[in-house]
Amino acid sequence: MSTGTVNGTRPEAEGSDAAVVRVELGPRSYDVTIGAGVRERLPEVVARSGARRAVIVSARPADLVPDPGVPYRLVEARDGEENKTLATVEALCRQFADAGLTRDDVVVSCGGGTTTDTVGLAAALYHRGVSVIHLPTSLLAQVDASTGGKTAVNLPEGKNLVGAYWQPLAVLCDTDHLRTLPEREWRNGYGEIARCHFIGAGDLRGLGTVEQITASVRRKAEIVSSDERDTGRRHLLNYGHTLGHALETETGFGLRHGEAVAVGTVFAGRLAGALGRIGAARVDEHLDVVRHYGLPWRLPAAADADRLIALMRRDKKAAAGAPGRLAFVLDGPAGAELVGDVPEGAVRDCLAAMPRD
Ligand code: GLY
Repeated sequence: MSTGTVNGTRPEAEGSDAAVVRVELGPRSYDVTIGAGVRERLPEVVARSGARRAVIVSARPADLVPDPGVPYRLVEARDGEENKTLATVEALCRQFADAGLTRDDVVVSCGGGTTTDTVGLAAALYHRGVSVIHLPTSLLAQVDASTGGKTAVNLPEGKNLVGAYWQPLAVLCDTDHLRTLPEREWRNGYGEIARCHFIGAGDLRGLGTVEQITASVRRKAEIVSSDERDTGRRHLLNYGHTLGHALETETGFGLRHGEAVAVGTVFAGRLAGALGRIGAARVDEHLDVVRHYGLPWRLPAAADADRLIALMRRDKKAAAGAPGRLAFVLDGPAGAELVGDVPEGAVRDCLAAMPRD
């Protein structure tokens, strides 16, 4: 490992278990620091920003929120898709105004991915953009949601329909937060780690938690640096997501995002096999990896193929630029890539062949 490489992981000082991944985006570059206790670095980051005050929006108890080292207001938040709304964004911006936050000050988010998404959007909008530092507390938020600058809230018409790209000033992934994470939340994050296996992160099985998060963030940083606005390469991050998103909707979010992505990853492997893009061993590797992380891999018993196909045709990420087509990120001889216009018959056959709960 070396300091200064593009998106390189920097080793920390001797005795520290933390790792730092640089997200290279020119003047908007920033570090993602991963390790036990790293939230205590918040005052250093705030001091470097020059902010004179902060608003911390936290979905975690006050005693888990570090002092930012400048006068601050603590605003309570709640994780959950139901709170990812424009009403929440408005309420947060009003708190920022009431606390006297200027555009030179800083917002800090502390919570899961729904909180970092919502607070990130409020920061992007307040005074047309105020700095934000993310302290993600769930595995999903640490490996994916908090890095890359996508912020958004939901509308009744769909998930993440109103958002902005707003890169954070820094991300502090404190793995101490994971100590109390419920098992289902671990699975939620492991779904995103498992898909990293097929988008160039390498085999992360057998690594420790800090190393797995670091490798996942490093791969995301590389991809985001080359396609911040999701016009091409960033689609790779949606490996397993075409069916995954459809399953989330079909099950009324009974499957968590990472669980649905895990089933979608197994399906993507089978579909790539059926299309002759990969051999049987690589197809099987999809199931091995997903099972290794204790993730679900069968289709829910009640999932309806017609509805899933209709939902997949509407997937805005898979079908970007050509709505209505069936598009998947699929493994192949040159690695994963977005494959548009997959024949419906192949999708239908693979769905029919998937084992069911
Ligand atoms: N979570 C996918 C992305 O950030 O593009």
